This record gives sequence, C-alpha cells and structure tokens, in this order.
Amino acid sequence: MNILLFGKGGQVGWELQRSLSVLGTITALDHDSTEHCGDFANTAGVAETVRTLRPDVIVNAAAHTAVDKAESEADFARTLNATTPGAIALEAAKLGAWLVHYSTDYVFDGSGSRPWVETDMPAPLSVYGRTKLEGEQLIAQACPKHLILRTSWVYAARGGNFAKTMLRLAQERDRLTVIDDQWGAPTGADLLADVTAHALRHLQQRPQDAGLYHCVAAGEANWNEYAKFVIAKAQQAQPAIKIKANEVAPVPTSAFPTPAVRPHNSRLHTGKLQATFGLQMPHWQAGVARMLAEIL
Ligand SMILES: NC(=O)c1ccc[n+]([C@@H]2O[C@H](COP(=O)([O-])OP(=O)(O)OC[C@H]3O[C@@H](n4cnc5c(N)ncnc54)[C@H](OP(=O)(O)O)[C@@H]3O)[C@@H](O)[C@H]2O)c1
Repeated sequence: MNILLFGKGGQVGWELQRSLSVLGTITALDHDSTEHCGDFANTAGVAETVRTLRPDVIVNAAAHTAVDKAESEADFARTLNATTPGAIALEAAKLGAWLVHYSTDYVFDGSGSRPWVETDMPAPLSVYGRTKLEGEQLIAQACPKHLILRTSWVYAARGGNFAKTMLRLAQERDRLTVIDDQWGAPTGADLLADVTAHALRHLQQRPQDAGLYHCVAAGEANWNEYAKFVIAKAQQAQPAIKIKANEVAPVPTSAFPTPAVRPHNSRLHTGKLQATFGLQMPHWQAGVARMLAEIL
C-alpha cells in the first residue's frame, strides 16, 4: 500500500508516521517539503502531488488549527481546512484512493449536555469550525472512499500542550484559575493514529463502512478537572516537582474572553466508531497519565 501523509510534523501527523508504517510505504510531507508540494496554501500544487504520486491511501493531518487566529484570517483558514482538502478529495476519487481526514467538535454549537452523534446538525460558532465543516462536506461529496474522524482536545507528548502549560503554571503560581464550563474528552494523538491504522485495515475488507465517525477517548471532563488531574498525577509521579498551586479555582469561560467562541458541550458519542470497527475507546485519564509519564 502506498500512503501519502500530509501534515507530518503536527501532533497527529507525527504519530501517524509511526502507526501507518506497518501498512505500507509512506511519503510524508509538510508545508515546506521540497520534493513534492505539501503546502496547503498552494491548492493546485497539492493536487499535483496527488496526481504525481498516485497513492492508494491519502491521510490528511494538515490543518489551520490556530482557532483564535483563524477569526482574523478566514480566507487562509478556508484554503487550508476546506479548499485544499476538497481538491485532494477530487484527485483521490479519480485515482480510487482512500482519503482519511480529521475534523472537530467545533462543528457543533455546544448546546445541551448530550454527547453529539454523527447525524446531529452542525452549527459552528467560529471560523475554524465553519471551515472544518466545509472541508468535511467537500470531501464527502467528492470522494466516496473517505474516512472522516471528528475528534476533540487533542494532546501529544511532542510539542506544546495544555497539560504542559498547566504544569508550568502550577510551578510558577500560587493559584490557578481554569474554566469549568466547557466539557469534552482529552484525546491522544497516538490514539487517533492507532485508530486510523486499524480503520484503514478494516476498510480494505469492508469499503461500505466509509464515512464520518466521532473518535475521542472515553469519559468526559471540563478543563478545570483536566488541569487538576494533570497536577495530581505529576505530584504522584515526581514528588520532587515543587507545585506551588494547591488550588485550581473554577471560573466560567466568560472570565477568559477569546476572539473565537468555543462550544460548551464538546462531548462526542463514539458508539458508531466502536460498533463498526470493533474497538473499545480507552478512558482519557489513561492516555493523559501515559503522556505525563513520558514527559516528566
Ligand atoms: N488540536 C486539537 O485539539 C484538535 C481538536 C479537534 C480536531 N483536530 C483536528 O485534528 C487534525 C490534526 O490536528 P493536530 O492537533 O495534529 O494539529 P497541529 O499539531 O496544529 O498540526 C497541524 C499540521 O498542519 C500543518 N500545517 C499548517 N499550515 C500548513 C500549510 N500551509 N500547509 C501544510 N501543512 C500545514 C502544520 O505544520 P507546521 O507545524 O509545520 O506549521 C502541522 O503539521 C486537524 O485536522 C485538526 O483540525 C485537532
């Protein structure tokens, strides 16, 4: 199997380089790759890359993920999150290739408290959410052999993440304030990459299972609970770490105004994914604890 991976250096892209390596030969690109164009700002160049390499599978982990910045550069975000993925989908369809793509809980408006299912009506609150939704739609229209995984609150051991920020702040400050009215599931990039590899194997046998799936770790948390878990685990794992913050105070989202509006309810129901692919999603705490053990 020839696999073309876009966004190789991102959280998910990095883990995909590992998980996909047992499935075939990978050509992995980033925006500054020189041999083939992997720059999503250059839609025609990326389409040309697909035509040249003629992969069996395309996995797109590239995206404009700077949610607040997207509010002031909507056209650029749209090119990266919708126009270029749409062009890849057209080329994939011509080749008969599979296209794997990642989307987000931000396609929903965050109302209620029930976990969102795939058939719920999207109503994004932000440029990021709108452009990601458009990307999903362009792919689904153009390329029948698609797998779109909507996920949330992605972290990885590599690069910056919320847990690392909390650990740093807890060492610097006496008191932390973290919002407690946005709910979701922290989901490891490694988990997403492993599910992707498993699903791709499955789809070779059952192409009729192509489609849109919610893919997050089990359980739920708000950001305040997530921060408390990270700090407690760090103290257990490394008692030598001097944590000054003995309090993680809850505050509403309104205490930290941001350019992009974020959904309060980011819970995603994974029943369809688990039933179709024969998977059991691990609890988010297991993945976060493992990531902390790696970085501490
Ligand atoms: N992070 C989250 O919490 C989250 C939540 C829900 C869904 N998702 C989705 O999951 C997927 C993977 O996200 P992630 O967390 O791995 O994001 P990430 O770490 O921000 O990685 C994004 C990747 O896109 C690349 N990129 C940026 N501009 C590009 C351009 N012009 N051309 C080509 N590549 C470009 C980045 O490269 P450079 O680093 O070199 O710029 C990076 O490799 C995305 O589709 C995202 O929308 C993420």
